[in-house]
Amino acid sequence: MSNRLRVGIVGIGNRSLPKRPDTSNWDGWASLVASHEGMILTCACDPALDARDRLVDRGYLNREDVFPDLEGLLAQRDVDALIISSPAEFHADAIGLAGEAGLHVLVEKPFVTDVDDGRRLADAFNARQLTCCVIQNWRYKDVGAKIQAFIESGSLGTVGHVFFRYVRNRENPNYPAYIFEEAHPLLYAMGIHHFDLIRFSLNDEFHSVIGQSFKPPWSHYQSVTGVNLTFRTHNDVIVIYSGTISSKNTCLPLESLIIEGEKGTLVNESDWSDPPLLFYPEGAKTPVDLTSVSVGCDIKTQYDRSDQKILDHFFRAIAYGDPPLCTAKDALESVVAVEKCREACETGELILF
Ligand SMILES: NC(=O)c1ccc[n+]([C@@H]2O[C@H](COP(=O)([O-])OP(=O)(O)OC[C@H]3O[C@@H](n4cnc5c(N)ncnc54)[C@H](O)[C@@H]3O)[C@@H](O)[C@H]2O)c1
Repeated sequence: MSNRLRVGIVGIGNRSLPKRPDTSNWDGWASLVASHEGMILTCACDPALDARDRLVDRGYLNREDVFPDLEGLLAQRDVDALIISSPAEFHADAIGLAGEAGLHVLVEKPFVTDVDDGRRLADAFNARQLTCCVIQNWRYKDVGAKIQAFIESGSLGTVGHVFFRYVRNRENPNYPAYIFEEAHPLLYAMGIHHFDLIRFSLNDEFHSVIGQSFKPPWSHYQSVTGVNLTFRTHNDVIVIYSGTISSKNTCLPLESLIIEGEKGTLVNESDWSDPPLLFYPEGAKTPVDLTSVSVGCDIKTQYDRSDQKILDHFFRAIAYGDPPLCTAKDALESVVAVEKCREACETGELILF
């Protein structure tokens, strides 16, 4: 490894390099790597010429440093780590190639779309003592971090049940065509954030799930776009999750999370897990704002801060052996949750984890 960690990016879409930076919710991986003092962006790949052009035109890399595919990149460039931000269905192949080449990986959620692939890859990275971390950023925004700390401190008491409602209008025909062809897009695109946040916050794992899926007649998606699920965790917490990406609503907050414990109720109503996180102690008429000390509660600051934290921990895990934030093995349990939900919706049966 050179003095700085040499990083390549796989997939130069919106998440890596926003097409419209002025309206984007984040700066993106290219910018964050370029400004990280321990990292240097040395190469990238994407099959789309316009994506490669954007990276070169914005001055992040030279033309000879960008490749149409990962095989070409690996054959011609020395690199220590990859950030994988291609569509979910391509994650497993890219992680596999990276592992064979001895590279560390930071991969966007969902880690993989197939649990067996995920298990095989997590084991392979462990065996080779390579770092493989997953970008489960809902955990590391201020709200997620605060919920986890609040529950862990005992301030909520024993948790009884959780309600999560998601109402999103993602029926935008201008989105890339593949989005409308993906299986269970609500679960893999957003449910995985929410399930991961719940696992992390409760420090608990799902034990069973039952539910149904649905899709309204106006949907552009091939697959179902809504679910209604009831989970039970190992600690007997009931989690009721209802969501859709076919809502016509553009006013209501997208996310509504209520966690009830014996000492009161935690509430977060926001679009992307943004502050405030409110706590209503038992019997109180007014809430306590648990995130009032957060600096920069706006959507973009919250994304960028958690992305910087994730990138920095990835760097520190490789450079100094610090414990990684969200390992492949940990993130795999959130993929398991998505797969079990699919099975529950498709069979109508109670599915055990
Ligand atoms: N953590 C978050 O908050 C968050 C937010 C948005 C997206 N994501 C995740 O980031 C990833 C990318 O999402 P996006 O919004 O940037 O998508 P996007 O459609 O904007 O971009 C994907 C890019 O990957 C390229 N690509 C396609 N096949 C590829 C391959 N085999 N190898 C390399 N590149 C390939 C495409 O040409 C495109 O440029 C997905 O896994 C998505 O779930 C995470």
